Amino acid sequence: MAKKKTMYVCQSCGADFARWSGKCDACGQWNTLVEEVPRAESNGRGARSATGDARVYPITRVDAREDERLSTGLGELDRVLGGGIVPGSMILLGGDPGIGKSTLMMQLGRAAMRILYVSGEESLKQIKLRAERLAVSDEEFLVLAETNLDSILRAIDERKPALVIIDSIQTVFRPELESAPGSIAQVRESTAILLRYAKSVNIPMVIIGHVTKDGVIAGPRILEHMVDTVLQFEGDHHHSYRIVRGLKNRFGSTNEIGIFEMRADGLREVNNPSEVFLSDRSRGISGSCVTCSLEGTRALLLEVQALVTPSNYGMPQRTVSGLDARRVSLLLAVLEKRFGLRVGQYDVFVNIAGGVRIDEPAVDLAVCAAIVSSARDQAVDHGTAVVGEVGLGGEVRPVGQLEKRVIEAEKLGFRRILVPRGGITHKKSRGIDIIEVDLLAEALEKLL
Ligand code: TYD
Ligand code: MG
Repeated sequence: MAKKKTMYVCQSCGADFARWSGKCDACGQWNTLVEEVPRAESNGRGARSATGDARVYPITRVDAREDERLSTGLGELDRVLGGGIVPGSMILLGGDPGIGKSTLMMQLGRAAMRILYVSGEESLKQIKLRAERLAVSDEEFLVLAETNLDSILRAIDERKPALVIIDSIQTVFRPELESAPGSIAQVRESTAILLRYAKSVNIPMVIIGHVTKDGVIAGPRILEHMVDTVLQFEGDHHHSYRIVRGLKNRFGSTNEIGIFEMRADGLREVNNPSEVFLSDRSRGISGSCVTCSLEGTRALLLEVQALVTPSNYGMPQRTVSGLDARRVSLLLAVLEKRFGLRVGQYDVFVNIAGGVRIDEPAVDLAVCAAIVSSARDQAVDHGTAVVGEVGLGGEVRPVGQLEKRVIEAEKLGFRRILVPRGGITHKKSRGIDIIEVDLLAEALEKLL
């Protein structure tokens, strides 16, 4: 066998070189060379399949019955995964450092299955301290503090766990590669090998990846197309709520979210999110409006908050959190043109209470209502919720699954809900007044 040698492959044109350089001599691109193990020696990839023969089947003969999924013991997480973990699948859990990824994964230790938790970030002692805090004490929760990929694979082979957790992929390295752990080459190669191994022995794996603020380099982004499922763990450090969001899922839908609260003894599932997100609302204050957003199969009531104040500096500020800032700018332009609201000399702050992030246009009308409410210093009625997308013409546009949203608002004791016209068939015999609107201006007049 030839001596092991690394090479550098251009990610742009595919040319390979014996040594690294900032510029590819073949195509002239900069920063495109990435270290790789020559293909013939690589475990991670190769033209031949594992068994060596290619079997072709008619589609009618393929067995598509799903293997039984593993429950994580956390209903919120199972739902995001599409009903549990699929055997042999690989899940990437991404998120900012300190958000609670290790905590979430260690809590799976309460589920009844053999788990191998591999940590390259913490010592066994640190892991033990966390386990005590989380009340994880199970003979079947196996821990390994290791970063060498070969040793990790050997441990999996010996212990045959039902689930492997790698915390984090940035610390794992393959000794054959000269690049440092955490480099693109190491992260991609380690993932490829783990992935192939997971599929061949049918053991599912969760790999944790840090998303670094400054970039894509060595972040888990490059892995997204390799793995089966990508979960994002988000939330902000000032709030205790954490959300698991599916960004990609080969075995389920991607619009489900799971909601948790970080407590002193770990993450607690939040089963009634609307109540929680509305719990801190104060009555009679201007700049607040409740809306109902749809997250996957669940309707979620949220409070939109706005603050409009005279600008003390030359350039008025637009500060948005929890929403798309460009969407808010667009709504401000519509409010100006179609409703006559002048905020050119004002700072505008818009926020979703509780640190949640919403991407749905169905919250538009509530955003407009909160802004106008603050600008006029006039509170929106406490018992009213507002749903509707706002178009550029100042019209209120229909939103999906209106019925579900109305039911959620009714369930939480709202007396009145403003909705786009035409979405609701039976309006009678309900505990909530349904008010249909066509235009933004009309809706705002009804609210304020
Ligand atoms: P951690 O899981 O270490 O984050 P990550 O793996 O994503 O970097 O979580 C770290 C934070 O969570 C830390 O600030 C302490 C807090 N925490 C709790 O509030 N309660 C707990 O029970 C645990 C274990 C951590
Ligand atoms: Mg961690």
